[in-house]
Amino acid sequence: MTDPASMRRVYQRGTLTESTAPEHWFTLFAEWFAAAAAELIAVEVNAMQVATVDAAGHPAVRTVLLKAFDERGIVFYTNYSSAKGRDLEARPYAAAVLAWLAQERQVRISGPVSRVTRAETEAYFAGRPRGSQLGAWASGQSALVPSRAVLDEAEREVTERFAGRDIPPPPHWGGYRIAPEAVEFWQGRPDRLHDRLRYRREGERWLLERLAP
Ligand SMILES: Cc1cc2nc3c(=O)[nH]c(=O)nc-3n(C[C@H](O)[C@H](O)[C@H](O)COP(=O)(O)O)c2cc1C
Repeated sequence: MTDPASMRRVYQRGTLTESTAPEHWFTLFAEWFAAAAAELIAVEVNAMQVATVDAAGHPAVRTVLLKAFDERGIVFYTNYSSAKGRDLEARPYAAAVLAWLAQERQVRISGPVSRVTRAETEAYFAGRPRGSQLGAWASGQSALVPSRAVLDEAEREVTERFAGRDIPPPPHWGGYRIAPEAVEFWQGRPDRLHDRLRYRREGERWLLERLAP
């Protein structure tokens, strides 16, 4: 059996300093995203884990794909009726983490969540492969499914329904944007004395703070 306690790696790929950190979190995020994407061994660079809480305050976390980011925040697409969708309608706040482990980096983003505009969802949906478009119609994400056959039958049914025409996004499907209140960049350093710089929004300004590792 592989013992996780014996797995150890010295973090020495980079540093993170206040003097070179840009004024806006977005600049550094874009730089790190490009660096992660440029690394040949990287898999699903845009995968991130998003945590939500339900109305009772119970947390849940799952992986989704980052599909857009700009100064307003980060966007992912999902089923609005899924468990996470229900959480976000009740408690429109989320925390996300992107772990770029090849670069010994992590970025944590938290803030209020809102749906993207329908036009944004439509534009993104139109660019998805047809199979993914059909899948969005066929799957009542997070609901119980009695068997795989039921799912396959649902796919057959929607494939027939949309045969020969463009597929619009289902009404219960679309994007969410997490508008950051805080963005923390973590760069691994030797001896566990890692660099942690956090951008925290105060009004229109972004404060830059260093946190103990
Ligand atoms: C690599 C990867 C990418 C995923 N991307 C998405 C995504 O972009 N949107 C989505 O709704 N689910 C995505 N999923 C599935 C979710 O992790 C999750 O199973 C699903 O959204 C249901 O979550 P919920 O029941 O908490 O709502 C992805 C899973 C993995 C492993």
